Amino acid sequence: MNNNSNLKQTDPEIYKLIQAEVARQNDGLEMIPSENHTSQAVLEALGSRLTDKYSEGYPGQRYYGGCEIVDQVENIARDRAKKLFGADHANVQPHSGCPANFAVYFALIDPCDTVMGLNLFHGGHMTHGLKLNFSGTIYNSIQYGCREDGFIDINEMHKLALEHKPKLIVSGGSAYAQIYEWEKYQAIADEVGAFHLADMSHVAGLVAGGVHPNPVGIADVVTTTTHKTLRGPRGAIILANGNASTPLKKVERSKENIPTLIDRAIIPGIQGGPHNHQTAAIAIALKEAATPEFKTYAKQIVVNAKTLAEVLLKHGFELVTGGTETHLLLINLNNKSITGKQAEKALGQAGITVNKNTVPHDPRKPFDPSGIRMGTPALTSRGMKKNEMKIIGELIFKALDNIDDEKILTDIKSEVLELAKQFPIK
Ligand SMILES: Cc1ncc(COP(=O)(O)O)c(C=O)c1O
Repeated sequence: MNNNSNLKQTDPEIYKLIQAEVARQNDGLEMIPSENHTSQAVLEALGSRLTDKYSEGYPGQRYYGGCEIVDQVENIARDRAKKLFGADHANVQPHSGCPANFAVYFALIDPCDTVMGLNLFHGGHMTHGLKLNFSGTIYNSIQYGCREDGFIDINEMHKLALEHKPKLIVSGGSAYAQIYEWEKYQAIADEVGAFHLADMSHVAGLVAGGVHPNPVGIADVVTTTTHKTLRGPRGAIILANGNASTPLKKVERSKENIPTLIDRAIIPGIQGGPHNHQTAAIAIALKEAATPEFKTYAKQIVVNAKTLAEVLLKHGFELVTGGTETHLLLINLNNKSITGKQAEKALGQAGITVNKNTVPHDPRKPFDPSGIRMGTPALTSRGMKKNEMKIIGELIFKALDNIDDEKILTDIKSEVLELAKQFPIK
């Protein structure tokens, strides 16, 4: 086996597909709000030899030899996460967002205990209690939703919490365009004696950049993916206050013990070896997110989303909650007599990638819902600003006004390409 041969020679089939994907991203507009473009430094760490190393355990307490270097990497990642978000404790090992959330459930509650989260079809996430997910099968899931105006119905949630006495309340979501009021969830959790998990996956970059309230210091425990607005590699972090006991020992389920409970839940609870290449890449992304440039970036993400919202509102589009305070827009297409599926397809033909999405109280089914969800993190990473958002808003309007016209959609695709070429992914 020749370990020195590069990918192009070793596996031209996969090489070509990677090149094709890079071209697809460069030539189009990636507007799925959970996506972003990482830096070259992050990519370099992901492609490093750190991927070869096994290191089950935590720095200084590993089950394998040869961990002295990866220990340093993980310590740097943990320290940067704590500093950036103001937490006492950070676990940077979750392989992604779903396992991070699973670890919190595993750490804090027992099977069959009651959990409460935002209904996926109102903008939550499947790990917040969807019946088909572990969170809705292993646990007794009660779901809260949004009001008719699209805002999360905190009053309904409060009533449900008093009625069902959940052991865990989950805040956060994946298709909500407004500010999460973390302290309201914590107050309700305290009232009913529940733990509160704030899942800030979507807004973590906005939190780091100071344009969205930070749940750390309010919520009992916070999870975040690292690959959305935070602009890192795929991965996740769990943050909490207090300190983990060393060495890991069995402790009772109390708020003070959350750091220890979380660390034990990740390993030996639900994962084996950490992905060290990923940990290094997370460390790099956290360093980037602590810079003044990142603050400017986070601000621009929101300015861009608001600009796009203005253009779409002007053209008669109905935005759930009436607008956005974050990186994303949820559009209800019912008044345009097109479905989310049709819109996703037409925009795709025009080189604009978005995703179909349910809207709160959607009369349609999840696989063919009434809405689309779009966001500005990836476009903003390419350097696009208000002017480009105005152009893109007009292109989206034109495409959705002509979903069956191949010629118009092809013409829009050429315009998209022209624009995209001016903002290469760096
Ligand atoms: C709010 C929220 N939590 C968790 C996740 C899960 O993350 P992953 O896809 O990395 O498992 C997502 C991903 O979409 C999310 O939006």
